[in-house]
Amino acid sequence: MEVAKQAMLQPGVLERFVGQVPGLQVNLACGIRVCEVGSNVGDVLCNMAEKYPNSTFVGFDVNEGVVKTAQLKADQKNLRNTSFNVHSIYELPASWKAKFDYVLVQDVMHDLMDPGKGLDCISFILKEGGQLSLVEFNNHSDLKDNIGIPGAELMYIGSLHYCMPLSLFHDGEGIGIAWGREKVTEALQKAGFIVKNICSPPNGEVELHYVCSKQNIVVEND
Ligand SMILES: C[S@@+](CC[C@H](N)C(=O)[O-])C[C@H]1O[C@@H](n2cnc3c(N)ncnc32)[C@H](O)[C@@H]1O
Repeated sequence: MEVAKQAMLQPGVLERFVGQVPGLQVNLACGIRVCEVGSNVGDVLCNMAEKYPNSTFVGFDVNEGVVKTAQLKADQKNLRNTSFNVHSIYELPASWKAKFDYVLVQDVMHDLMDPGKGLDCISFILKEGGQLSLVEFNNHSDLKDNIGIPGAELMYIGSLHYCMPLSLFHDGEGIGIAWGREKVTEALQKAGFIVKNICSPPNGEVELHYVCSKQNIVVEND
């Protein structure tokens, strides 16, 4: 996992990731509002903020320690377009309603107590027609379909010893790493997202990049 994260910071990788989302490269260059959910120590968001100075970047994480580290990094880089906040995905400020054009979530949702409710909270902060990049592990929802996937046994161990206990400790669903593309897609659609593409991110095939948009609500007049 850490290897994939470090790869994301290598030259050219972020641009290729952004290029997987239709129109995002241009929008970021022009200036949009971006939010990263579970931004941890902020490396990816700071990297993005350096490359796209016309856009505004907000990261949040439930862990106060990592948020402090992330803000320190942004300050050291003198990134005036970037801020990090302590929030749980389930308790976001009301003022964030429909505030963001693009939301990035990497390796967070399957650890949550209730990933479905988490996706509803993402929908709350995303504008109509806004875009979402969800990065989750590259596997299937049915255990037998994961036989033969390179590294599946490592995912299973990591899931059993980290992801599932993290969620179960809080009486959560304990979904684990193998949420799987079938159930992830179903959950995204249930939360009102259109899944436009599912592809390997440029930083490795161990994960999948779900490129989504929030449905526009069409109001029909009588
Ligand atoms: C496995 S890390 C991934 C971090 C980062 N997105 C990355 O790809 O390196 C999951 C992150 O989600 C955060 N997190 C867990 N539950 C959360 C919640 N309810 N609300 C916000 N962040 C949460 C954790 O503190 C942690 O920083």
